[in-house]
Amino acid sequence: MGICDGRVVIVTGAGRGLGRAHALAFAAEGARVVVNDLGVGLDGSGPSASPAQQVVDEIRRAGGEACAHGGDIATGEGAASLVAAALDTYGRLDTLVNNAGFLRDRMLVNLDEDDWDAVLRVHVKGHFLPLKHAAAHWRAASKAGRPVAARVVNTTSGAGLLGSVGQASYAAAKAAIVALTLVAAEELRRYGVQANAIAPAARTRMTEQTYASLQGVPEDVSPLVVWLGSTSSAGVSGRVFEAEAGRITVMEGWHPGPTTDKGTRWTPTEAGETALKLLSAARPPGEVYGAAGG
Ligand SMILES: NC(=O)c1ccc[n+]([C@@H]2O[C@H](COP(=O)([O-])OP(=O)(O)OC[C@H]3O[C@@H](n4cnc5c(N)ncnc54)[C@H](O)[C@@H]3O)[C@@H](O)[C@H]2O)c1
Repeated sequence: MGICDGRVVIVTGAGRGLGRAHALAFAAEGARVVVNDLGVGLDGSGPSASPAQQVVDEIRRAGGEACAHGGDIATGEGAASLVAAALDTYGRLDTLVNNAGFLRDRMLVNLDEDDWDAVLRVHVKGHFLPLKHAAAHWRAASKAGRPVAARVVNTTSGAGLLGSVGQASYAAAKAAIVALTLVAAEELRRYGVQANAIAPAARTRMTEQTYASLQGVPEDVSPLVVWLGSTSSAGVSGRVFEAEAGRITVMEGWHPGPTTDKGTRWTPTEAGETALKLLSAARPPGEVYGAAGG
């Protein structure tokens, strides 16, 4: 018995790295998996032959069930056909793991508008569109009176939570994914859908050069993703977890800190004096990744 027996799971960007590990781990827990991957390069260039089919073959060799989808999840057609692939092949959809993405790192003064757009597109739109199509399916199922215990696992990053030098576009995109997750958790709760996000860290082609010291491998991150994508995680929604090697951390979000209400409008000088006073009583922010002296 696996904790995902009977469930149908989509994993985007599952041809390599973390997505591949998630797909294999879901299949090992009894899920039927739709393995999506466009097969692009580290910077989104390509696409070449999709590695999705190789992961499907691996799952089948291990006795599991899977099918491949080679579309671009950041297009309406790609996202719609991905959800349709789950429904047409297996007749249901229970879990969506949004994971696909790529980087085009530059210091922000050198960051081209096209590179900015490409990174925002693949991460933010590439999360939103599959989520929208899956959510429409779950809302319809719920309204038709069918039981829904659906799960969404989104992929943010430490860069999106704390900032990361040289990764302005990526950090902005990954921060947007956190906000998207919070809204999805709240809006979709009534239809039986839970949405959470993970900030993984593992050695993959994406990190092997910049973060050569990373200890963990993708397979270390997948168990938490599988649990979040199963019915065992009932009651957990709108949360963000960091996962690296053997460590799982609940990330705590923005909370109001020290505050003062004058009851009427401040002058700029007064506002500045007050801001400095409040800052002296506030917790300092976490250090930005790659910060000078860090
Ligand atoms: N590796 C880490 O330590 C780390 C840290 C923080 C966040 N992340 C995030 O985890 C996710 C997976 O990263 P990874 O390290 O496994 O990278 P990876 O490059 O090994 O895998 C990403 C996969 O996504 C696919 N892909 C890219 N654009 C796509 C598109 N439009 N449609 C479908 N597939 C597409 C690629 O072909 C690739 O196979 C990404 O969202 C990444 O930002 C990774």
